Amino acid sequence: MGLEHGHEFAVLVLLMLVSASSCTSLFREEDVILGAVEDAKVAARLGGGGAAAAIKGAKNASTRRGSTCVRVGAGAGGGGGGGGGRYYVGWKDEIAGMAGRPEMVAWLRAVRRRIHERPELAYEEVETSRLVREELDAMGVGFRHPVARTGVVATIGTGRPPVVALRADMDALPIQEAVEWEHKSKNPGKMHACGHDAHVAMLLGAAKILKAREHQLKGTVRLLFQPAEESGAGAKRMIEAGALEDVEAIFAVHVSHQHPTSVIGSRTGTLLAGCGFFKAVIHGGRRSGDPVLAAASTIISLQSIVSREADPLDSQVVSVAVVNGSENQVGASPAAAEEEEEERFVLGGTFRAFSNASFYHVRRRIEEVITLQSRVHGCEATVDFFENQSFYPPTVNDARMYAHVKAVAGELLGAGSYRDVPPMMGAEDFSFYSQVVPAGFYYIGVRNETLGSVHTGHSPYFMIDEDVLPTGAATHAAIAERFLAERSPPSSSDPLDQNSS
Ligand SMILES: *[C@@H]1O[C@H](CO)[C@@H](O)[C@H](O)[C@H]1NC(C)=O
Ligand SMILES: *[C@@H]1O[C@H](CO)[C@@H](O)[C@H](O)[C@H]1NC(C)=O
Ligand SMILES: *[C@@H]1O[C@H](CO)[C@@H](O)[C@H](O)[C@H]1NC(C)=O
Ligand SMILES: *[C@@H]1O[C@H](CO)[C@@H](O)[C@H](O)[C@H]1NC(C)=O
Ligand SMILES: *[C@@H]1O[C@H](CO)[C@@H](O)[C@H](O)[C@H]1NC(C)=O
Repeated sequence: MGLEHGHEFAVLVLLMLVSASSCTSLFREEDVILGAVEDAKVAARLGGGGAAAAIKGAKNASTRRGSTCVRVGAGAGGGGGGGGGRYYVGWKDEIAGMAGRPEMVAWLRAVRRRIHERPELAYEEVETSRLVREELDAMGVGFRHPVARTGVVATIGTGRPPVVALRADMDALPIQEAVEWEHKSKNPGKMHACGHDAHVAMLLGAAKILKAREHQLKGTVRLLFQPAEESGAGAKRMIEAGALEDVEAIFAVHVSHQHPTSVIGSRTGTLLAGCGFFKAVIHGGRRSGDPVLAAASTIISLQSIVSREADPLDSQVVSVAVVNGSENQVGASPAAAEEEEEERFVLGGTFRAFSNASFYHVRRRIEEVITLQSRVHGCEATVDFFENQSFYPPTVNDARMYAHVKAVAGELLGAGSYRDVPPMMGAEDFSFYSQVVPAGFYYIGVRNETLGSVHTGHSPYFMIDEDVLPTGAATHAAIAERFLAERSPPSSSDPLDQNSS
């Protein structure tokens, strides 16, 4: 999840982190609301709290969750949405068993740690991209590269429709890691403080599982390893490069410190806000208006967009977070002032909204208020919205894809390991995909008080419980495989389906 910072806005970063943490307090009561979580902990963790449990799991995945296994066998016809008759019903235990194998768990950790040690910023994910390609090569998975500079698009399955996409983001943040551990970032000032290292590892894990089950796939799974989620709209560039061609649905996971390890969370509809930044330059001059007065008046007027124009039930935020008048020659000699053609005053801030319409409306009103209020004071203003960099619409889950995530997570991990979550004011460039094809975005918990993985993303203390990795890999794989299976019912009149059978 990104957009808590922009290149230009050092000051803004701090303010945004403050606002992000105030939003995340929404989750405080959740452990109370969702009492089933305790049950979930055992069932949900395929990696199982370390090697011992993993070995147990590997010996016989179905013994570990025997009663669930029975239920699968009996209920798959209905639960599989019509695909059960033809579809092999052992998917759950096979996928869970494969993800929980000790060599798989160890490999997932090693991959994640290698990426964690070498974090790279947006569009600079050269080593990360190479690691992804080497691992795919080793699995015998074909891919396309470069896509959107450093991106990789891999393909597993029949090579024919239907096509379902899974996405992982590869970029890190310009943050100095403050966690002291063996695999601490070796790139000064850069850190995987938002879990993208885990996202890549989990998607590679899914690739391994899906490759082993390629004969089961009723279509094609496309794996998107994208650059530049935090800033730079990597998703947009991936789409421009054709990553979504023929894709019927797309899914992605994001680690979350708000849920216990391996618990899945999602919601239908808007999940994350649209997020943009603005920077206004107000020009005045000795002979015309006063940009300081214009700026003061503009800041006040910007407050009324949310407080007086927005529907209070349609959450929106407009914040001015930076003012900079230091270019003005305050106290300069009259001669120097005379030379200075004009004064400039800079305003910067952020805005957020939950609906696409409100997001674009707020953007338009910010521009109007700044330019027209400046003119009232005899000044001219220009506004930059960094549209190629940090202008992310809301992330909206399709109702069917949300239901699919919930159903698969419930079946694979046990009913208590899924929770509906409230929307958040954070943003994600996954929104670009969700605007093009039906999308399902979900969280996976990495919170473990014992380990100390309780810090929010974008914190220099951010860390994860690595036991999440096998669960994430299995969930990814199951979501894709089941989507294809349910997409192609046995009696389908769809010619594409018959070809691929
Ligand atoms: C795993 O356990 C189940 C249930 O106890 C049993 O039916 C199955 O044969 C076992 N499989 C293996 C590979 O041991
Ligand atoms: C404010 O403007 C001055 C002069 O252009 C610049 O040096 C400084 O970096 C700016 N500060 C911020 C926080 O943008
Ligand atoms: C924004 O991106 C588009 C397409 O990638 C490009 O054509 C355009 O020049 C970019 N604009 C700026 C201001 O960089
Ligand atoms: C969001 O709004 C913009 C501007 O009105 C529009 O161009 C775009 O198509 C909208 N996207 C969706 C998914 O409705
Ligand atoms: C947290 O991690 C420790 C060490 O891996 C493990 O023993 C413990 O079961 C975990 N706790 C929870 C609540 O997941």
